Amino acid sequence: MLEFENVSVGYGPTTVVQFAGFAVAREGITTLLGHNGAGKTTLLKGAVGLLKPSHGRIVLDGVEITALPAHQRIRRGLGYVPQGQRCFAELSTLENLRVVADTGRNAGARIEEQLRLFPVLREFADRQAGLLSGGQRQQLAIARALLLEPKVLLLDEPTEGIQPSVVTEIEQAILRLVSERGISVLLVEQQVGFGLCHAENFAVLESGRITQQGPGGISAMAQARAALAI
Ligand SMILES: Nc1ncnc2c1ncn2[C@@H]1O[C@H](COP(=O)(O)OP(=O)(O)OP(=O)(O)O)[C@@H](O)[C@H]1O
Ligand SMILES: [Mg+2]
Repeated sequence: MLEFENVSVGYGPTTVVQFAGFAVAREGITTLLGHNGAGKTTLLKGAVGLLKPSHGRIVLDGVEITALPAHQRIRRGLGYVPQGQRCFAELSTLENLRVVADTGRNAGARIEEQLRLFPVLREFADRQAGLLSGGQRQQLAIARALLLEPKVLLLDEPTEGIQPSVVTEIEQAILRLVSERGISVLLVEQQVGFGLCHAENFAVLESGRITQQGPGGISAMAQARAALAI
């Protein structure tokens, strides 16, 4: 669905990710694991078009997108939820959804779909997003990306810094959107756990290089733990 072919990407003259090659499964979850600073976010930014790879190709659904601007990648079905539960803090939960949904057709129905997936957003529809908890804001960020009906959703550490009970809620929502909407998810995580257990495929990024990859599931856990020395 989304393929990285020998991709090198970084900041100015500094290359962070070097010759990364792996594919995101057509359906289900693909998990990208790596420690702090390994280059996970940098690679996602390369995929979305926020950074320009210095080498290699990125292919979405059989079409090379390496040189396309970000808005065209999004139109072709890439969805992106950046690290850090970002939202428009001054707007209400519902307004955060409207600023994205109202630019397209069937805004009301599309918003309703996300509120069904994340009931807590309905409960706090009128609350200023800046006053939501981290977990609620993360659910809002995911819902906002889903409004554009992506084929592949890139989630950068969606459960980072979130309390355990809400982590489970977010994980359940990811599983539901994969099974009910048939979309593909690239899940970036630091922990060997949920992501790997439910993954079709996984890859480990260490100091900018992919050092392990293969099918996900329980059997992948030992492999990933050994690679990450955890
Ligand atoms: N804007 C930037 N300019 C220069 N170097 C950067 C920039 N952003 C990140 N880096 C460097 O790139 C490397 C990879 O960072 P990146 O954010 O991709 O890591 P990460 O795997 O997402 O880590 P984390 O798990 O902490 O989010 C780090 O050494 C970081 O210092
Ligand atoms: Mg990161």
